[in-house]
Amino acid sequence: MKKSAPVIEVKNLTFAYDKQTILEDISLTVEEKDFLAVIGPNGGGKSTLLKLLLGILKSKQGTIKVMDKPPLEAVSLIGYVPQNTNINTDFPIKVIEVALMGHVGSKKPLFGYGKEEIACAMGALEQVGMQAFAQSKIGSLSGGQRQRVMIARALCAHPKILMLDEPTSNIDIQGQREIYELLKILNKNMTIIVVSHDISVILEYANKAAHINKRLSFHDISNKKTMFHPRSQEEHFCEVELLQMLGAQKNDAGQQESSETKWSTRK
Ligand SMILES: Nc1ncnc2c1ncn2[C@@H]1O[C@H](COP(=O)(O)OP(=O)(O)OP(=O)(O)O)[C@@H](O)[C@H]1O
Ligand SMILES: [Mg+2]
Repeated sequence: MKKSAPVIEVKNLTFAYDKQTILEDISLTVEEKDFLAVIGPNGGGKSTLLKLLLGILKSKQGTIKVMDKPPLEAVSLIGYVPQNTNINTDFPIKVIEVALMGHVGSKKPLFGYGKEEIACAMGALEQVGMQAFAQSKIGSLSGGQRQRVMIARALCAHPKILMLDEPTSNIDIQGQREIYELLKILNKNMTIIVVSHDISVILEYANKAAHINKRLSFHDISNKKTMFHPRSQEEHFCEVELLQMLGAQKNDAGQQESSETKWSTRK
């Protein structure tokens, strides 16, 4: 069977806001239905990479293709849940109204939304298990419930790719699990890219991992899952060790240290 073209292809991307280089010579390939975890330290450039993929930021060096198009032409294919979506919880807006905002191309925002758009937003709320809260005020929800509404908003545009920037920060463990379980279900039909610091949780769900700290190191972790599972019989690693392994950079000879080699030495 012919392999489909990558969903995202980044080649030799370098980016600076001013003079300071934030991302350096990054290459990355994301395939259809991948669940990519983007990890790395604060300030490493994770959110910047997502903004480049969305066309919000533009780089002068390197290329980005989203479903074979430049990012700005592919915006409608991506659902985006930004970092720290601090919706003013005192603002008297209903859950359904937040979800409706996901209709980016709506022709009549000034005249209210049409029946189809409302049905679509209700469908998205149903997908995330929040339909019963459609008429509730957004401020009355828990952090985890609010985040699920933000995911519904992103789903309204029927994206092929869903990108989430730290969707579980400030959410308790149970709420985090529920969000990852939701992403696992959504992943059956779309490619998922999640920035997260919850490394052990994310590695349980992701099949690929990209560690970003100015440079990117990429890992196919689809066959490593049992190592990260808390009930695994095999040896598993503490988060610090995992981060070190995933963040392995090029060595002095300019070759990428193989994570394969590193991991296998621990067996
Ligand atoms: N608009 C901006 N103008 C100038 N510098 C910026 C801008 N946005 C981010 N930066 C800088 O770029 C670097 C990378 O920021 P970015 O937000 O991509 O990091 P991050 O990996 O998402 O971090 P975190 O885990 O804290 O969210 C940081 O040093 C940050 O200060
Ligand atoms: Mg960030």
